[in-house]
Amino acid sequence: MENLSRRTALKGAGVLGAAGAASLVAPAVPWTWSPAYSIPGTGAGTDPRKVWDPEADEVIARLFRNPEQVYRVNNLLKGWTRNGQALPAGLPRELRDFIEHARRLPSWTDWDRLDAAVRFNQKHGLYLGVIYGFASGMMSTVIPREARAVYYSKGGWNLKDRISKTAKFGYDVGDLDAFRPGGEMIVTAVKTRMAHAGVRHLLPQSAHWNAVAPEAKPISQADIMVTWHSLATTVMRNMRRWRVPMANYEGNGMLHSWQVTASLLGVRDEYIPNSWGHADAQARQVLDPILAPTPEGRKLANQLLNLGVNLDLTLLSRGVLGALTRYVLGDKVANWYDIPREPVWSPLLETAWVPFVGVREGLLNVGLPRETTWMFDELLRQFVLLYMSELRMPISIQIPTFNNPK
Ligand code: HEM
Repeated sequence: MENLSRRTALKGAGVLGAAGAASLVAPAVPWTWSPAYSIPGTGAGTDPRKVWDPEADEVIARLFRNPEQVYRVNNLLKGWTRNGQALPAGLPRELRDFIEHARRLPSWTDWDRLDAAVRFNQKHGLYLGVIYGFASGMMSTVIPREARAVYYSKGGWNLKDRISKTAKFGYDVGDLDAFRPGGEMIVTAVKTRMAHAGVRHLLPQSAHWNAVAPEAKPISQADIMVTWHSLATTVMRNMRRWRVPMANYEGNGMLHSWQVTASLLGVRDEYIPNSWGHADAQARQVLDPILAPTPEGRKLANQLLNLGVNLDLTLLSRGVLGALTRYVLGDKVANWYDIPREPVWSPLLETAWVPFVGVREGLLNVGLPRETTWMFDELLRQFVLLYMSELRMPISIQIPTFNNPK
């Protein structure tokens, strides 16, 4: 109700421009997913669109009373990278207490399942590059709340960098030591949680964001689960669609690594699905129907299609990436952003990609033309190279200190 009246008031005042109007095609979807399908199997049933992250938000908002403190904390935390590492001295006590609490793994963490997630990543890393690195990133451009939040926050300065970081986040979830003391995933997730709290503090102060966003405060727990599906569920959906063979325990391990991640990002257990079946049902309810174009998403998508520019990776050209977008996300999404069908790659992907995966996985023995196999192999290889070159940089996640002034 609060959101509705705020939007109506803005509209009445003529504040909502064409950008806001174009975003209205995204329907408001109620959250009816039952906590019976969540990790604890029970919950209060509070609508997660009205739940943010009070523990993190209060601590970070207090830091902002003296903006110098935010810079100081960001600097202090630069060297804090390993899960098992002690926090640096000099942090405000309240923040230290928050981080010490937030870095604890949930009680339901299952190390065997996390090990299975590592095997999943090792076996399927080749495809994960394409999905996390591109499909999920492209999908985020048609998740209106995310596209607008990213565009009008500090990250809006360099959208590609922000997308790369989220993609790398996805990829690293299944890293060998991800959640072990020598790994980095707990630190990365806790820092991301703090960055999100920073966004919740700053973005409501942005006139640009306020003019187009229907919500008063960004990044609710429902929003986080939507993005979670654009990563985890999208990977699983595509692996199934491409008929990549996968042992059940590996797929379940991958799910578990994402369950732990959601918890470290501050999501309540009652919103985290307990199986792939229930995850998919949640995605059908909260992700699929809300996809819609926005002017901000269009700019974001445009940057992503230029991912390969300035790199010596000829297959990651705009045309090929456009064809990949059309193939993975469908004609409707591609048409929203006027991404054309590519005369060679579009039909090639539609007819030969799944057989190619079958041949590659040793399941099929069909006679694919040598050129086709070479082109697909080369495409996958170039995505891996992209990871090595651009995404393999250490992630340095910080609390944002300003909004995109544009
Ligand atoms: C920042 C990941 C959900 C909006 C970040 C960063 C990461 C990340 C890794 C740090 C990037 C950087 O330092 O530049 C994730 C993951 C999510 C999630 C894994 C869910 C599973 C969301 C949602 C929204 C959002 C739902 C908005 C609706 C933002 C914004 C920033 C950010 C605006 C700050 C970028 C900046 O201005 O510096 N997120 N995010 N994220 N995220 Fe998320």
